[in-house]
Amino acid sequence: TRPVVLDVDTGVDDACALLLAARHPALDLRAVTCVGGNAPVDAVVTNTLTVLEAAGRLDVPVARGAARPLLEHPVNAAHVHGADGMGDLDWAKSQAAPDPRHAVELLRDVLLEAAASGDPDDLVTLVPLAPLTNVALLLRTWPEAAAGLREVVFMGGAAHVGNATASAEFNVFHDPEAAAVVLDAAGELGVNVTMYGLDVFYDPRVTRDEARAMVERGGRGPAELGGRLVGFQCERFDSTAATIGDAGAVCAVIDPSGVRTERLPVRVELAGTWSRGRTIVDRRDWSGDLAHDPHGAAPSLVDVCLDVDAERYARLWVDTLTGALTP
Ligand code: BDR
Ligand code: CA
Repeated sequence: TRPVVLDVDTGVDDACALLLAARHPALDLRAVTCVGGNAPVDAVVTNTLTVLEAAGRLDVPVARGAARPLLEHPVNAAHVHGADGMGDLDWAKSQAAPDPRHAVELLRDVLLEAAASGDPDDLVTLVPLAPLTNVALLLRTWPEAAAGLREVVFMGGAAHVGNATASAEFNVFHDPEAAAVVLDAAGELGVNVTMYGLDVFYDPRVTRDEARAMVERGGRGPAELGGRLVGFQCERFDSTAATIGDAGAVCAVIDPSGVRTERLPVRVELAGTWSRGRTIVDRRDWSGDLAHDPHGAAPSLVDVCLDVDAERYARLWVDTLTGALTP
């Protein structure tokens, strides 16, 4: 099994991702860290514990992290994720307590332990699905923790279009400085980074009928919760199908051949009149010639997801939650 840690702002589609990571037999979910984003961080913690409880995985430590971005003001995405940040479902909130450590301390401890084991199979795949505030704080405070990383697969950014603005994707727009720190630090520390951004994010979709069938299984478990989450999105957007969103990034960890990636230089726009928070993906044929880069410092090279086998990932999600695959 592959050790993974999720950093989340749960979040309807973060909940879909958590259910998959908690239940897929190939993954060893070591910790979940929470950050303000789709909802305020305290709601994110409660939502995350609620999802893990439904998945039967309260053994996984969950820690509260940054309440707000490094520089930006917090935003609220209640118009997308509901007032409670997770679809306002008829679902009792967990009463479980989070880990007493700060998210950044929990990340440090898990990664240093993985590094100390000396076993390459113990290295952790970090999957940030939210503004990158916690991860930036970690890499600036304890850069040595990066030795415990196998790779970072993050949901955020886009080569083509934005969603928070015409240019910028929500997670990067919400904390552009943090995203820039993570990309730069990853380049400096030699960490492989995969960007699962908007070029693929909306493609893996589950239909309203499939969601209904999941809900009808009942049992207050992963299938019923997953079905309700997709059903909420179908209703909200008056659509016959909804994206599994952040869960696609977890699919890319489980089944990397389901995405087509290109290794490309990526920078985060920190100024810009209309483009702050945009990920500038350099697709020029000659972009490898970084010695002549007019900006001086070379950008980090990132594996950018440009296409996805959407059917395959949607199936992976449904099969895992309905128990066709069990841990
Ligand atoms: C990202 O922002 C959030 O709304 C989603 O959970 C996802 O992580 C999409 O831009
Ligand atoms: Ca998210």
